[in-house]
Amino acid sequence: MARIALVTGGMGGIGTAICQKLADCGHTVVTTYSRPGKEVEWLADQKEKGYTFRAYLCDVADFESCKAMAAKVLAEVGAVDVLVNNAGITKDTTFRKMGKVDWDVVLRTDLDSIFNVTKHFVDSMADRGFGRVINVSSINGQKGQFGQTNYSAAKAGMHGFTKALAQEVARKGVTVNTVSPGYIATEMVMAVKEEIRQGIIAGIPVNRLGQPGEIADLITFLAGDNAGFITGANVAINGGQHMF
Ligand code: CAA
Repeated sequence: MARIALVTGGMGGIGTAICQKLADCGHTVVTTYSRPGKEVEWLADQKEKGYTFRAYLCDVADFESCKAMAAKVLAEVGAVDVLVNNAGITKDTTFRKMGKVDWDVVLRTDLDSIFNVTKHFVDSMADRGFGRVINVSSINGQKGQFGQTNYSAAKAGMHGFTKALAQEVARKGVTVNTVSPGYIATEMVMAVKEEIRQGIIAGIPVNRLGQPGEIADLITFLAGDNAGFITGANVAINGGQHMF
């Protein structure tokens, strides 16, 4: 069934693929962006590829900004059935060198954001008897990563949220799941120094980075009507880099 889907941070590498695959399934797709101006080129580029998306300015780290975005989406598009909490950032540095600013900005953007955004949509999903909340975490929330105490903590925290909320809304037809991608060929991973990245790839059993479309396929399945029995799960998609 065609639904309304909101993807936060939908203009990044994984986000763009998620928007496209959800649209390919017939869903109406809305995304958020945090840097004014970025949307113009992205929307035009997507239009050229045959996709018509709507984009809303929103700082996911800021509760009031999310509230205003949610009100606009409701008024201009309709009630959101599928929420993909995808927006996230890194500020990699060893804990010894990490300042409070690097800690705070990652925790606010990657963890507080799931409260800030989800809060405005989940009641309506429960009232309507259908909803899908998909939180995009990371392999590094599962295994930890040298240089990412902030990011690993935020991404691990996400799954605690998933498990708790999943229990609260299960009877209302709303599922809540975490997806934990490994290293995917995106700008975020390409920002890691070449020799460090090559070392990471050498440790991935399938011997390559993942593709954004592979994450998007999984998310599209979890968003669908056939995934109603999957809730509170943390689905790993990492080329075998971390098995548990
Ligand atoms: N385990 C143990 N020791 C390590 C190590 C590791 N994995 N990596 C480095 N070290 C050691 C180094 O050998 C070095 O030791 P010496 O001082 O004895 O020489 C010491 O730790 C310092 O290492 P660096 O020189 O690398 O430190 P740096 O300050 O230059 O760089 C860093 C730190 C920026 C965090 C860098 O290590 C790095 O980029 N690491 C990779 C971080 C990473 O994987 N980020 C993922 C980004 S993508 C993403 O997050 C998406 C997703 O969800 C997967």
